[in-house]
Amino acid sequence: MDLAGRVKRSIGIPLGFVGRLNEPWIADMAIEQGCADVAFVGRALISDPEFPNKAMTGKDSEICPCIGCLRCLATVNADGAVCCTMNPKAGRESAFAAADEKATHRKKILVVGGGPAGLTCAARAAERGHAVTLMEQKEQPGGRMYVAGFPPFKHDLAKGTKYLIERAKRAGVACVTARATIENVRAGGFDCVVLAVGSTPVIPGFLKGAEHLVSAEDASLGNASVGKNVVVVGGGQVGCETADLLIHPYPDMGARSRRVTIIEMDAIPLRAEKTAARALLIERLQKKGCRILTGAGVERVSGRELYYKKDGASHKLEGIDTVIAAVGMAQERRTAEELGDLPVPIYEIGDVVNLCQAIGDGYALAEKL
Ligand SMILES: Cc1cc2nc3c(=O)[nH]c(=O)nc-3n(C[C@H](O)[C@H](O)[C@H](O)COP(=O)(O)OP(=O)(O)OC[C@H]3O[C@@H](n4cnc5c(N)ncnc54)[C@H](O)[C@@H]3O)c2cc1C
Ligand SMILES: Cc1cc2nc3c(=O)[nH]c(=O)nc-3n(C[C@H](O)[C@H](O)[C@H](O)COP(=O)(O)O)c2cc1C
Ligand code: SF4
Repeated sequence: MDLAGRVKRSIGIPLGFVGRLNEPWIADMAIEQGCADVAFVGRALISDPEFPNKAMTGKDSEICPCIGCLRCLATVNADGAVCCTMNPKAGRESAFAAADEKATHRKKILVVGGGPAGLTCAARAAERGHAVTLMEQKEQPGGRMYVAGFPPFKHDLAKGTKYLIERAKRAGVACVTARATIENVRAGGFDCVVLAVGSTPVIPGFLKGAEHLVSAEDASLGNASVGKNVVVVGGGQVGCETADLLIHPYPDMGARSRRVTIIEMDAIPLRAEKTAARALLIERLQKKGCRILTGAGVERVSGRELYYKKDGASHKLEGIDTVIAAVGMAQERRTAEELGDLPVPIYEIGDVVNLCQAIGDGYALAEKL
C-alpha cells in the first residue's frame, strides 16, 4: 500500500489499487491514507458478490470472506470455469437460480457434524425455512476447517470458519454440543437426518512403535506436547503445513529452533497442491531449515528410531522426540453405522478431500431438502 502511495504521488493522475482489499475497512483505509483513488476488489467479489451492498449498509460481518485459497484461479486456468471454496454458487449461478428460495414443506431436520459441510447445509436449509438442529460433538465447531486455520498464512481460514458458524446462527439453526447417538436422534423426532461427520486421522500400524506419536491435528491444536527433534510422516498439505507451524517463524532462532524432518514416499512433496501456495510453502520450509526427504518409504518406528527405505537402501533416523502422523484421513463410519436403523431418510455429505467439496456438498443438499 505504501508503494501505491508513492506511485500515486509521483504520477499525478488517479490511481487504482488492487490486491487483498478483501474487507471494506482495508479498502477505505487505502483511500483515506492517500494510497489510491479507487479500490479494486477481485476475489472478494467472487466469494461474495454482495460485498459492496453489505459494506454500504453496515453489514460487514455478513460478508462471506475470501480465504485466499486461490482455487478460483486454479480452476479458471484448468478448465475456464471459476469455482470458489467459500461460495458454491460462483460459476454455477444458473444451476442454483432455478432452486426455490423457500422450501415448499417445512421439515424438522437434524444435521450431525459442525464442520464446513454440516454448517453450510444447516445454514442454507434454515434460510430456506426448515427447522434445523445442528449437533456437533466438540465444544468448538468448525471441524477440520478450524484446525486448518492454525498454520502460518492460513489465518484467513479462521475467518471463513467464523463466517460459517455465524451464518448458521443468523439463520436460526439450533446448535447443540453433543455426540449424535441413536437414542438422542430418535428422541428428537426429526423428519430427516444429514450426516456430515467428516473423517479422522489415519494412524498406520508401522508408526505405532514410536515412543511419542501425535496426530498432525493434535500437534497443531496444542492438544499434545511436541519435542525438539520432530519427524513428520507425510509430506502432503497437512504434513508440510504442520511442519511450518512447528518450526519457529524467526530464522534468527537458528539452532534454538525445533528441528523438523518431513518424510514423504512420493518423489515430490505437496503434489496435490495446484496453487502458487505450493512453491511458497516449500521455499519457506527450506529457508527455515526444514529437512524434506522424498521418495522415502517409512518401514517402521521403534522407540526413538525411524527406519525407512530410499532408492532401495535402508536408512535410519535417530533421537526422535516426536513422530507426527500426517498420512491422511479416513471417513468416519461409526455414526452412520450407529444411526443406520432410523426410520427416516438419512443423507451423507462432506468428504475427506477439501473445503470446496465439503461446502459445495452442504449447499447443494440443502437446496434439495
Ligand atoms: C490440518 C488440516 C489442514 C487442511 N487444510 C485445508 C485447506 O487449506 N484447504 C482445503 O480445502 N482443505 C483443507 N483441509 C481439509 C478440510 O479441512 C476438510 O476437507 C473439511 O474440513 C471436510 O469437511 P467436513 O464438514 O466434511 O468434515 P469435518 O471438517 O471433519 O467435520 C466433521 C465434524 O463432525 C463432527 N462429528 C463426527 N461425528 C459426530 C457425531 N456422531 N456427533 C456429532 N458430531 C460429530 C466432528 O467432530 C467434526 O467437527 C485440511 C484438513 C486438515 C486436517
Ligand atoms: C479467477 C481470476 C482470474 C483472473 N484473471 C486475470 C486476468 O485475466 N488478467 C489479469 O491481469 N489479472 C487477472 N486476475 C488477477 C486480478 O485481476 C487481481 O489482480 C488479483 O486477483 C488480486 O486482487 P484480489 O486480491 O482483490 O483478488 C485474475 C484473478 C482471479 C482470481
Ligand atoms: S476460491 Fe478461494 S481465493 Fe478464490 S475467491 Fe473463493 S475463497 Fe477467495
